[in-house]
Amino acid sequence: MGAEPQVRDERRAGMWVGILILFILVAGSGSFVIASHKWWLQPLASEQGRVIDEYFVWILAVTAIAFVASHLFLAIGLIRFGARGNERASYWHEHLGAELTWTIVPAIAFIFLGILGVFTWSRIYSAPPSNAEVVEITGRQFFWYVRYPGPDGKFGRVDPKRISVSNPLGLDPSDPAGKNNVLVVNELHLVNNRPVEVRIRSVDVIHSFFLPNFRVKQDAVPGRVAEIWFTPDKPGTYQIACAQLCGVGHYTMRGNVTVDTQAAFDTWLKQQKPIR
Ligand code: CUA
Repeated sequence: MGAEPQVRDERRAGMWVGILILFILVAGSGSFVIASHKWWLQPLASEQGRVIDEYFVWILAVTAIAFVASHLFLAIGLIRFGARGNERASYWHEHLGAELTWTIVPAIAFIFLGILGVFTWSRIYSAPPSNAEVVEITGRQFFWYVRYPGPDGKFGRVDPKRISVSNPLGLDPSDPAGKNNVLVVNELHLVNNRPVEVRIRSVDVIHSFFLPNFRVKQDAVPGRVAEIWFTPDKPGTYQIACAQLCGVGHYTMRGNVTVDTQAAFDTWLKQQKPIR
């Protein structure tokens, strides 16, 4: 006995939706494969970045499996079932095993990612090692101030009320610690294999200090000092970017990071003039 014309139309529609979902699956996976060969993460240049990248790959793998499995399941269901026109829907208690499987397996996968995320976070946002070099980064429309403490390792006190054209960071002249601080613009130098603690500030709006090669991204918020540390482990020159839309000149907030030997770093720092 043939199916009613209306049922036949619905079946055909279901089949086309199934094919469409298969197409989305192939196009989605295919464009990922092509895009990942052209555009991928920037070359890695820090120890902590490896931890981030591992977590990134875990998330990508778990979500990729979920994407492929759910689309295949949906497409096969639409194309295969209902093809004869006399099937009936079945309910969850008739397939308890299947119901439990597709509830529990994704739950375990996402709990796993959550726990892994907590460990990843704790490996990155920990107290910096005592031998870390300290540098202060201050965002301003539209560049980055980089301040080094000088030989005594001390930063001079700053006070936002003192900020002016000639005193962009608002340095307090009565604090002797500020005398030998070194201030450079858009130029960060680091020592290879030496941990660096970066104190991030802003003097106007919210910026975001972004070092793609080191997998470091931290908002610069006025009135607060955010601290982050990492260990560069590949000499070279990389870019600093601003990852927070901060005004019309946002795109110009670029700088360079140079990872060098301790000797080359010392030479460079000596060539820079102290603030006063
Ligand atoms: Cu600063 Cu965008």
